[in-house]
Amino acid sequence: EKGGYEHFMAKEIMEQPKAFRDTVFPRIQDGRVVLDDLSLTPDYLREVDKLYIIACGSSYHVGMTAKYTLERLLRKPVEVTLASEFRYCDPIVTDKTLALVISQSGETIDTLAAMREAKRLGARVLSIVNVVGSTIARESDDVLYTWAGPEIAVATTKAYSTQLALVYLIGLYCARALETIRAADYDAIVEELLLIPTKLEAILENREDIQYFASLYFNHPSIFFIGRNIDYAVGLEGSLKLKEISYIHSEAYAAGELKHGTISLIEPGTLVVALAGYRPLFEKTMSNVVEVKSRGADVLGLTTQSRGDEIQKTVDHAILIPDTHPMLLPSLEVVPLQLFAYYVALMRGCDIDKPRNLAKSVTVE
Ligand code: F6R
Repeated sequence: EKGGYEHFMAKEIMEQPKAFRDTVFPRIQDGRVVLDDLSLTPDYLREVDKLYIIACGSSYHVGMTAKYTLERLLRKPVEVTLASEFRYCDPIVTDKTLALVISQSGETIDTLAAMREAKRLGARVLSIVNVVGSTIARESDDVLYTWAGPEIAVATTKAYSTQLALVYLIGLYCARALETIRAADYDAIVEELLLIPTKLEAILENREDIQYFASLYFNHPSIFFIGRNIDYAVGLEGSLKLKEISYIHSEAYAAGELKHGTISLIEPGTLVVALAGYRPLFEKTMSNVVEVKSRGADVLGLTTQSRGDEIQKTVDHAILIPDTHPMLLPSLEVVPLQLFAYYVALMRGCDIDKPRNLAKSVTVE
């Protein structure tokens, strides 16, 4: 049932090109995003004055990426909240709020309760769910399913990737309805979306490189992930993956925030994973890499092939991924980080599919 892999997590990481294809390709017809199952009309979308993204854990990290993506595409404010916080923060929700609820299982109790609260306050709920017929799916006004297939490993991989894919589709769909995107940009992004599965396959083929980096660093006591904008959002997920299955302490920081405190933790030999894939902020992030290097950090850089020569000048090792549209970059960046977490946990002899203290579906508050 593990398809020849040692762990479900490895199998699920490797399934991502297919999961992405299954989630995205049927929803693109003649170069347009078609979401037949969605009842959001252009009139309704124009009325929406705020999006509220509600989720937990990795699904929340998808929400963090979605904030950057959807604000850019829709020019509407997007607030992202942990479901466990939303419930108790007296949230500002009206009937002009669109709540985007993200959950693999569709049963996470905090997310479900937050969703009910959002509905009670008048929001319309659009959910992104993997498990068909789950409670969150049933109680939403609209649901878009990720066609990731069953996810067994506690640490999510393919569900995260397909949630992200749906965020792009929702963004493109709504941007077109709202006319907040130029036709040429829309076409360029759709074209690139269709290339993502092949690029994912290329990344997965090179997994031995990541295994080698893991062998260098699997004994590090503490690891930092830094990046800006969507690179930062992906860093949050990379850090969570690592700590939940390898039990290594790690932190994700917005690169520009380091000097406001955390840089005091950087000392000779600290590993910093620097995400510098997002083209518009490459130089900014690299200036932070120089700062941590000068304090003795080991830096594992992650960027796209076109920046390969540049990044190699500064970092100790570089992971290079294919170039794509900057908006879609998280889909490619997250995979080496999943693999890194996996191999580190493997080398540390951890129980990868069932990390201690964690459950796949959290149905208690
Ligand atoms: C991390 C992980 C968890 C879940 C979180 C939400 O790898 O799997 O953080 O993302 O418990 O679960 P769902 O998406 O089922 O609501």
